[in-house]
Amino acid sequence: MKKPKPIAEIASTGRFLPDNVVTNDDLAERMDTSDEWIRTRTGIRERRIAPPEMGAAELGARAARVAMERAAVEPGEVDLIIVSTATPDRWLPSTACDMQALLGCSNALAFDVMAACTGHMYGLSMAEGYIASGRGEVALVVAAEKMSAILDWEDRTTAVLFGDGGGAAVLKPANGSGRGILSSHLQSDGNLAELLYRPGGGAVDPLSQSVLDEGRHLLKMQGREIFKNAVRSMAEACDIALKKAGWTALDVDLLVPHQANIRIIEATAKYAGIPMDKVFVNVDRYGNMSSATVPIALDEAIEEGRAGPDANILTVAFGAGLTWGAMTIRM
Ligand code: COA
Repeated sequence: MKKPKPIAEIASTGRFLPDNVVTNDDLAERMDTSDEWIRTRTGIRERRIAPPEMGAAELGARAARVAMERAAVEPGEVDLIIVSTATPDRWLPSTACDMQALLGCSNALAFDVMAACTGHMYGLSMAEGYIASGRGEVALVVAAEKMSAILDWEDRTTAVLFGDGGGAAVLKPANGSGRGILSSHLQSDGNLAELLYRPGGGAVDPLSQSVLDEGRHLLKMQGREIFKNAVRSMAEACDIALKKAGWTALDVDLLVPHQANIRIIEATAKYAGIPMDKVFVNVDRYGNMSSATVPIALDEAIEEGRAGPDANILTVAFGAGLTWGAMTIRM
């Protein structure tokens, strides 16, 4: 099979995590759970929680500034801002427009993408297409999530799983060296929407006292079903992305999976034939930050020297929608 030629490359990455660390023991003081239960079922030890006044635009802007500085990109040079978030600061305008204002990227077009935990990959893929069309050269792809704002803190089955954070990448045209996005496979299945969703508070069931009283504006999840679908879909997506890149598992230097649960990560890696020493894991420190997990993990992997120049990265994610996808990238 002919090896694909990259169109766009990741010029830099950045991340931002709020300072406030909430441990499993902290949660056990306010709900009927334990460090032991959370650790053994999910691998999570602690997560970051943003202060009330800090929303997704701010979380993402802080990550974006780091990425822009590393790529030596000035605000006026950014052509496109795509922000993935399941927790927009407000319903109108997009969080991307709020972030654009914070960053001063006055020459860019900006919009949100809503694909839950798979959102960063959707954003990268759309930015790649935009660059391929020749309409712009510098794309800022950001994922910013304040999951703490949409959790039901009375529901131990969801509240212990998530955290807040922001991750960013600057995408530029590939320079012909072979570095860049080699393949991607993105998919969704709206028939399974109700496995992981926020039932109320939107245009069909607008915010009302009854929505608030019943918590219909908060996240609901069928954990077991999500678990099964996540493992199956991520395994399939890895297969397809690898095949499109002309790679086998042996070509992968590092798997950077969505960080929802260590057991899902281990099952995905096993299926893909990638040993755990080639898998990046930080779910223990941050929990599930929805779409922000992948760019934050990639940024940490680069900093730790595990995703340096010419490293072959396979990244994979799964989330509400349902949505899922995988991507191969030569760094
Ligand atoms: N602390 C203590 N006990 C808890 C608990 C908590 N935080 N959450 C649930 N339990 C209890 C349940 O009430 C249940 O008790 P019961 O047997 O008395 O009814 C028991 O633990 C087992 O619950 P169950 O939901 O069957 O556990 P599980 O092994 O499926 O693990 C998840 C639950 C959520 C960890 C697991 O299903 C999962 O990780 N799913 C995927 C979630 C996810 O990643 N979502 C995001 C995708 S992007």
